[in-house]
Parts: sequence; C-alpha cells; structure tokens
Amino acid sequence: MVLASGGDSAGMNACVESIFIACRSRGWQAMGAIGGYEGLVTGNIVMLTPDNARNIGHMTGCTLKAGRSESFMTKQGQDSCLQNLNRHKINCVIVLGGNGSFKGATTLEKLGVPVIGIPCTIDNDVYFTRESLGFSSAVEESVRLIDRLKGTMQTNDRDHVVQLMGWHEKGLTQMVGEATFAEIIDTIDNRHTPKQVIEIFDRNRKAGNTSNMMVMQEKRKDSIDVVSEALEAVNYLQDLTRLTPASKIRLNTLGHLQRGATPSGRDRWLGHHYGKKAIELIEAGQSGVAVGMVRENVIAVPLAKSGQKS
Ligand code: F6P
Repeated sequence: MVLASGGDSAGMNACVESIFIACRSRGWQAMGAIGGYEGLVTGNIVMLTPDNARNIGHMTGCTLKAGRSESFMTKQGQDSCLQNLNRHKINCVIVLGGNGSFKGATTLEKLGVPVIGIPCTIDNDVYFTRESLGFSSAVEESVRLIDRLKGTMQTNDRDHVVQLMGWHEKGLTQMVGEATFAEIIDTIDNRHTPKQVIEIFDRNRKAGNTSNMMVMQEKRKDSIDVVSEALEAVNYLQDLTRLTPASKIRLNTLGHLQRGATPSGRDRWLGHHYGKKAIELIEAGQSGVAVGMVRENVIAVPLAKSGQKS
C-alpha cells in the first residue's frame, strides 16, 4: 500500500504509477490510502487499478491526496491504522513524503508494520538523498513563472521581490535565483535588510540595469501561522517602499504555484525509479529503509578523458 503524506510534490503520481506497474507485474494487488496517514486511520483505502493508477504520471498534485494527520499521532488513531491494515491484508506501507512523513513511517515500523520511505518534497531537505521528488519540477515552474515576470518588470522598469517556498532549506531559492540570474538571492543564511536591497538595486540602476529582482526564501516558522507569515512579507515590502518610490517595486509570492508544478520529465523519471526500487526492496524482505539518489555533483575532468561513455 502506498500513501502520500505532508505537502504534495510533483512526481508523486509517477511514483504511484510505477508502484502499481511493479506490483502488477508480480501479481500483487497495490492499494492506496487517501489523504496520507489520515486515510489509514479512517480506513479510506482504495484498490489501485488501471483506471486510477495508470496514465497519471503527468498530472499535477497527488491523485491519492496528501495531508498531515493529527489523529495518527494518537494511540487510538494508531490502533485504528493497525485494524485497517489487517482488514485489507496489507503487508507493507510505502510512504511518500518528507522528514515529517518519515517520522510517521518510523512510528508505523515500531508498531510492527513493514515500511519503505520515498523522499517527496519540493524543499529537498531529506538529508540522505541528493534529490527528492518534486524539487526539479518546483525549480522548473518557478523559472517559467519568473521568465514571465521578467518581461513585465523590464517593460515598466520595475524591481521585484519574488518570495519562494522551501521551509528551512535554502536550495530551492538558491537554484531558482542562480538559474534566473537574480540580482539578489535572499536565503535563510544570507538575509538582506531593506536598506541593503535598495542600495544594491539603486547601484544597479545607476549602472544601467533598470529592473532588478530579488528572490527571497520564505520566512517559515514551525508553527503554521499563515497570516503572520504573509504579513511578514508585506511588512518587508512596506519597509522597502519607505526607501524607494512605491511605484518602482512589487512583491510576488509564488508559493503553492511551485508545489503544484507540472511534473518535470526528471521527476517522472525519478518517480519511476523510486517506485520500482521500493517494490524491489519489499520483494527482498526489506523494511525501515528509504530510497534516494546520491552523487550528481558538477565536476571537471581532463578533456583527454572526456570521450564517449563506454
Ligand atoms: O514542505 C513543503 C512546503 O511546500 C514548504 O516549502 C512550505 O513552507 C510548506 O510546505 C507550505 O505548507 P502549507 O501547504 O501547509 O502552506
């Protein structure tokens, strides 16, 4: 059985499709819990069939729905999970999600349920893997959206602050900022005061760059207070407009547009392989492990050795 927990990420659907195909080829019945751990608690469990699990890899969001579950944290909720797993004769749970979701997977394992984790989060903050599902799509989508923004900001000679997701991990903002040649990349460990931002923008203007962009990693707190988080960005904009004409600067928050990205070819490919690997691990009797990807650094090799791959 597969479930998606926490925020959705592009590539989850490809992963579900891959799990379905791998199960089918072995003669196994694959199941899905709707809405993550909550679906396990309430027994909202469906059979995966060609109708709901094939040709979904290209879709945005997660067809199984993803979510966070309060009741799964309780003893009563966990007992209910075990009953539902037994009722459906489920012998392993594949958890698609990030760090929080993996904590849930560990809880399930302690309850005696075999589990496999698949890293899925646009934050790309699961430490053991180079890449989690959804990251490359979120980068692609952000770059596409910023391309559109650039046209309008250049037309009006404006400066823009673009707020990106990422929770406590700067990688998404850093990569998008570098890919779009943002004048300022503002991340958790490289914050800029409004004064610094305006100084940089003004300096660039004097040098002939009449529209500047700062990509800003969201200032996300652990306790989810969406209103004060949104206000924080607005207050920042207010501070900026105290230092420069308000007509010259705008704020855009890409937020969930990044998470709802069209799955990139890479995420579909990763989803395919992560799903397939998870089933191979189950077949080999493994549990309590997560799949991942290592080594994809940019390197330099001598030209003489750079010939065709054997
Ligand atoms: O963890 C993924 C993520 O998209 C973060 O980048 C973001 O801070 C958070 O989830 C948003 O969560 P929610 O959908 O609850 O607003």
